[in-house]
Amino acid sequence: MDLISNKSNELKGEVKLPGDKSISHRAAIILPLCHGDAVVNNFLFAEDTVNTLNVMKMLNARIKIRENGIHINSNGINGLKKANKLLYVGNSGTSIRLLSGLLSALDGKFVLYGDNSLQKRPMKRIIKPLNLMGARIKSLYDNDLAPLIIDGGRLKGIEYNMEVPSAQVKSALLLAGLFAEGKTAVEEIQKTRDHTERMLKFLGADISIEDNIINIKSGNYLLAKDIDIPGDISSAAFIIAAAALTENSEIIIHDVLLNETRTGFIDIFKMMGGEIEIIQHGISNNEPTGSIIIKSSKLRGIKISDEFIPRLIDEIPLISVLAAFADGETIIHDAKELRYKESDRIKSIIHNLNIMGTHVEEFEDGMLIRGNTYTKKDEYNFESFDDHRIAMAFSLVGLILGNTKVIGCENVRTSFPEFVQILASLGAKIYSIY
Ligand code: S3P
Repeated sequence: MDLISNKSNELKGEVKLPGDKSISHRAAIILPLCHGDAVVNNFLFAEDTVNTLNVMKMLNARIKIRENGIHINSNGINGLKKANKLLYVGNSGTSIRLLSGLLSALDGKFVLYGDNSLQKRPMKRIIKPLNLMGARIKSLYDNDLAPLIIDGGRLKGIEYNMEVPSAQVKSALLLAGLFAEGKTAVEEIQKTRDHTERMLKFLGADISIEDNIINIKSGNYLLAKDIDIPGDISSAAFIIAAAALTENSEIIIHDVLLNETRTGFIDIFKMMGGEIEIIQHGISNNEPTGSIIIKSSKLRGIKISDEFIPRLIDEIPLISVLAAFADGETIIHDAKELRYKESDRIKSIIHNLNIMGTHVEEFEDGMLIRGNTYTKKDEYNFESFDDHRIAMAFSLVGLILGNTKVIGCENVRTSFPEFVQILASLGAKIYSIY
């Protein structure tokens, strides 16, 4: 599937977006570990999160699909099947890393594997600490990549200093720690998204946080509770950028996740001159939410580094597109993790900005983008590099420069299957061709 986009203006309307991807994964994994019945509203039915649901169902979790969500009937970890299983997670890094944590705690042997792209992504970051906890995880080809063979059960708590800022690694350790003997303490080098901590606390786990250290103990009885998942802020970011870059636009996004470990994009967008306002605040199962209004904006370049990076790591492809239409330079550092995402995002971004004719310089841990230096062309043909966020970000270029194609965008279904439909409903000239 290719994405085609054309010059657009006057994007207008009000939307509520499908549920946050990170929270949807966690609800699918954590609720089956509780006791009782719960409904998850606004669950994200995208390929990644459906892969997590499928694995949990193969482990015997009683999950039923209902309108706009799921129903889960749980009987604690003992309700899950401890049998040999081959478990497929597709393209989803969050699924493989979080599920490794849970499977480490289950008696039995499991194989976790994914698609070609996932099997190139680093797994040593989870293999090492989970093995320290007593899990026996091996990489099938002994190369620290998936497929992973997990021989789980009988874990002991550890104190672990994280080597990279990663919510996926942290969450794997917390899920293992939920069933390990004694206390597990995880120290982060930089604060990353904290949805696992919030959901575990909401459901009654013995978890506490002091500065950058998260402590968890096993043994608490987790009671199932309903969860309303707010709209995905990472998907909202594409709508925010589309409104900002097009003329005479004004869009309201209702009930979106506003957890501050995820709102780095909003902060940077404001600092770039973006016109955005939070018009209503709320709280939904221990997660801050709200409604936001965005208007057409005149943007300027900015420097982004340090602790900002984990708060907007998934939005950097999009920020690079905003930077290409901003006055002045945007400089991004401390973002080497981008090289280990669905594609090497530093390379993917630079390739596509070069196609635009935009002045860009590559660093090992980021890039420099000189805004408004693109070349006027009859058409722009971008690559998606099999990466959903690269695909969606560069399709927005067509709304400003016209006549744009991003090739190979099936991957959009991994996180935001309604991307085209929602943007088009707001007045954007965008469609997909097969
Ligand atoms: C995620 C954590 C981040 C992020 C990914 C989702 C999560 O990955 O990039 O899209 O849900 O925990 P890392 O943990 O590798 O930084």
